[in-house]
Amino acid sequence: MQNLIDYTLKHELNTATRQQKIHILFNYMEKRGQSFYDEVVTQLEHALQCAALARRNSASPEQITSALLHDIGHFILDEHNADIDFLETDLNHEEIGAEYLEPFFPNAVTTPIRLHVPAKRYLCSVDTTYYDGLSDASKRSLKVQGGLMSDEEQLDFEKIPHYQDALTLRKWDDQAKVRDLETDGLETYREIVLQCLR
Ligand SMILES: [Fe+2]
Repeated sequence: MQNLIDYTLKHELNTATRQQKIHILFNYMEKRGQSFYDEVVTQLEHALQCAALARRNSASPEQITSALLHDIGHFILDEHNADIDFLETDLNHEEIGAEYLEPFFPNAVTTPIRLHVPAKRYLCSVDTTYYDGLSDASKRSLKVQGGLMSDEEQLDFEKIPHYQDALTLRKWDDQAKVRDLETDGLETYREIVLQCLR
């Protein structure tokens, strides 16, 4: 697993100023985000659509930043739909992404990223209409992500700070898969992400 993770971004971020960090991060997303997330949107389009939903819903800078960066784990693992088994095998992109960003962003940003997959398990467990609304690929991947949560798991989940932000993020994530949707570019998030940087 370790050798699947691209550490070049982290090394560059470690020695950069705050302004440079944004530049490095956005460049990386531009470069790595051109592969397809699913058959409809690229990884970058998916990130921008998710962040746009957060901004449209007057979310906090931390929520908008976590929406923009929630799948950074896919970028650093170079996971995309051309890989056999992407969305079927689970490399824990949410854990890897959150851990990768923790030196640079507060928990209000990284916890929803870490929880956006368990959030789907939680929502499917408490709300059957949520499950019914998922795409076929998302229903399939639920199994490898651990399936439904038990009552005990749900209670534990509700004790985690920022879990509600993870549920909200998850719902934006599910909607951020619209073909050819025009969105604001990465640069429009510069000040918001900068505000959240440690
Ligand atoms: Fe996503």
